[in-house]
Amino acid sequence: MTAISRSDDPSIDLDDIGTNPTANPSFNDLVAARLSRRQLFGLGVGTASTALLQACGGGGGGGAAFPVLPPAPAPAPPAPPPPAPAPAPAPTPLKLNFSAVAKSLDDVVSVPAGYTASVLYRLGDPIAAGVPAYANDGTDAPATYDRRAGDHHDGMTFFGMGASNKWDPANAARGLLTMNHEAITPLFLHPTGQTIVGTGNTAVRTVADEVLREFYLHGVSVIEVNKSGNSWSYKQDSSFNRRVHTLTEMTFSGPAAKTDYLKTKYSTDGSKTRGTLNNCANGTTPWGTYLTCEENWAGYFRRIAATDNPNRTAKEITSFTRYGVASTGRELWATVTPDTADNIYGRWNTQVVGATATDDFRNGSNTYGWVVEIDPFNPTSTPKKRTALGRFGHEGACLGPVVVGKPLVWYMGDDSRNEYIYKFVSTKAWDAADIGGGIAAGDKYMDDGKLYVARFNADGSGNWLELSLGVNGITSGNPTYPFADAADVVVNVRLAADVAGATKMDRPEWTAVNPKTGEVYVTLTNTNAASRPITATDGANPRYYNDPKGLSATAQTGNPNGHIVRFADDGANPAALTFKWDVYLFGARSTASADINVSQLSADNDFSSPDGMWFSHASAGLLWLETDDGAYTDVTNCMLLAALPGKLGDGGAKTITNVDGATTRTQATFVGKAPGADGLRRFLVGPKDCEITGIAESGDGRALFVNIQHPGETTAVANISDPTKFGSHWPQGGSARPRSATVVITKDDGGLIGL
Ligand code: FEO
Ligand code: CA
Ligand code: CA
Ligand code: CA
Repeated sequence: MTAISRSDDPSIDLDDIGTNPTANPSFNDLVAARLSRRQLFGLGVGTASTALLQACGGGGGGGAAFPVLPPAPAPAPPAPPPPAPAPAPAPTPLKLNFSAVAKSLDDVVSVPAGYTASVLYRLGDPIAAGVPAYANDGTDAPATYDRRAGDHHDGMTFFGMGASNKWDPANAARGLLTMNHEAITPLFLHPTGQTIVGTGNTAVRTVADEVLREFYLHGVSVIEVNKSGNSWSYKQDSSFNRRVHTLTEMTFSGPAAKTDYLKTKYSTDGSKTRGTLNNCANGTTPWGTYLTCEENWAGYFRRIAATDNPNRTAKEITSFTRYGVASTGRELWATVTPDTADNIYGRWNTQVVGATATDDFRNGSNTYGWVVEIDPFNPTSTPKKRTALGRFGHEGACLGPVVVGKPLVWYMGDDSRNEYIYKFVSTKAWDAADIGGGIAAGDKYMDDGKLYVARFNADGSGNWLELSLGVNGITSGNPTYPFADAADVVVNVRLAADVAGATKMDRPEWTAVNPKTGEVYVTLTNTNAASRPITATDGANPRYYNDPKGLSATAQTGNPNGHIVRFADDGANPAALTFKWDVYLFGARSTASADINVSQLSADNDFSSPDGMWFSHASAGLLWLETDDGAYTDVTNCMLLAALPGKLGDGGAKTITNVDGATTRTQATFVGKAPGADGLRRFLVGPKDCEITGIAESGDGRALFVNIQHPGETTAVANISDPTKFGSHWPQGGSARPRSATVVITKDDGGLIGL
């Protein structure tokens, strides 16, 4: 772990930080594979006859099909809300029906012929009456930013809303678009970027107004959007519009609530905190609320280990090290003086400065790293951090199949190199009477359940390892970290997963569940040689190679292009403790050798660094795949692809030959069937320096919402006064500063997107 902050080097990707020092198993150390693929895949995997619908990220609960289906046999479920007029269904079988978009380095959003992409909601856009349009030159009044769009638009859900202002998943023309604002590109937020005096540990922010803008620009937006004709707009003065940001009060529930771990000067009983940040991917609930997930939060806190460690216990130091809380704070928020009476700056200092934990914010960093529930239909409701789902670098929380009378399950990635994949299974069985129950329904399903972490075995099987006190080595006698109680386990769940024996993955990003099969997909965006040397590949993370970049052929070694792993819980039972897996898809240049371009990608569908990923509800079986890449960016900007995946086991066993200089090493794995042109096709390419992330659709699948995050983010600080040197001017063009924004894509004939 290297302590870095924004002030040290603005070009550093502050999310690219790995902090897992354990020697958890590589598959090569595990027992040799014994089961044949026939045995593995012959038992209840992907039984499509089982009623499986889910509501992961983008659609608020199943699109035209309502996400409440009974098991068979079962009593009739309570009556669902009245359905909207049914649009024409997706053709069966699904068929991609557009011309692939070419790779591009242009500063535009490109979509296929016959489609239109329109800008809907940009950084700074006002979401309340009376707030002026965004000047976009760093002069907008800081106090207005709690009523403006945040920066770095990310995970997103469209909650259809009916005339009664209640959740109507099938609504095709009106909804609450709810989205994350992960982080900021500070250079473009202030007249000349952040004002910082000093360097290293003595660097300080000296303009409080700049910091206030940044507080507001993180978090979540809820905006009412409406369709008129074939075009969409947000309603600036809707009473549903809301910003949740780093100053918004939130309560805790679950095992860590009201424990010593969460006590601060702000909440002396550990019951609440302020704010959410680094909100990356998202999730939904079957009762109609939004889940926002706190990803790489650790770097925002100031903790200079050399001076703070003498004041901390050995356990605290182990925890800080494992989570990477050891920097000056990436935006230096803790350095503003004087502090306010309610410590809006000092709360970012997670060092010991007072007499007790209720006199300072030594536990402040424990109040982040959670899945947070927000009820978009109740603008005055208090968001709740659900501690039962564990504290880590939460990428997203994808709801699994929803079946009346069965537990609910959420699948979750921990986005850092060598981190893990988790699932949470509720104790309570789903009761459709809880639809519309808001945060109270969350108390029922999300505070009581079991958390598991995934181990991928070399034979294509997998195990869900329970993360509870007293099991899997998670005990008070554990020599690395003696766990005290249930709260300790969820607060330090990475340490619990280490001892349980979880499998280190190549940066788990989004999770998505195929509504046709219940199979779970996880993007593993990329890693490097330092985190996964050629000697440490395993079945589920099988590649090591060099992807030379640019004219200078700069070496990129490890797994710089990433891949997508896929698994099915045994018996099509999301509560199962075992699963089967294969690798659905590998990122690569189409020109790479066969052991790198394992999925046989072509110029029309090659990509690198998969990140955002979501299955359509309206067009069940259609997968959208987004990239957050720095490896293939010598050739193309980041992109969105449409895919029609098959099913687990549709490929077969494969041995990949990895090469590192003169060293050659083989790795056995299981790979999905190569997608071909009909199974994977590039649909959109974004502007310069952007990430494509966040995706949602209207209830009828005829509008696709996509976020364009941080265009122009690599612009050098020294060039802020020379617009000709900005990395991007999207979306305004001319000499404007670039802005993150949501675009809405419609087909010119009003049809389903991509089909
Ligand atoms: Fe925020 Fe994992 O991307
Ligand atoms: Ca992401
Ligand atoms: Ca990413
Ligand atoms: Ca990003």
